[in-house]
Amino acid sequence: MSTTLTLEEKKDLIRMAIAARKFAYAPYSDFKVGAALLAKNGKIYTGCNVENASFTPTSCAERTALFKAVSEGVTEFTDIAIVGAKTGEINEQITSPCGVCRQALFEFGGKNLNVIMAKTEDDFIEEDLDTLLPYGFGPSNVAGNSAIK
Ligand code: THU
Repeated sequence: MSTTLTLEEKKDLIRMAIAARKFAYAPYSDFKVGAALLAKNGKIYTGCNVENASFTPTSCAERTALFKAVSEGVTEFTDIAIVGAKTGEINEQITSPCGVCRQALFEFGGKNLNVIMAKTEDDFIEEDLDTLLPYGFGPSNVAGNSAIK
């Protein structure tokens, strides 16, 4: 784990993800997800899943949080907390980020982003993004693109 967060700081991030989950718009799956993404500058961006009658436009909680941050000029992150469950309380299962979100996060968080997957603030696991997306394809692979740092 490459995070420098204290246990209390991790719990705070999980609490923010739990709060964000309350806004989940998930009338089709009834699977509600919340995420809280911590930027290197200390700011936290929250997100929930936002579904759509046409299904494809659905945004996962993680990407909602990520795009909120990037759209405000914040592109460097250290940790993300994720909570999700089909109905009711969240304490029954761990929700790990889907493949699309792993790829989206890899673009900005890189290998060392710490992913906290929580049932509750007292019950969670965490992994580096590198573990969840081994051999990830990212900006450094796209040689010759001047937009890439
Ligand atoms: N979902 C997320 O928001 N994050 C994940 O990591 C997994 C899936 C959402 C997408 C969809 O609205 C619902 O959960 C069921 O797949």
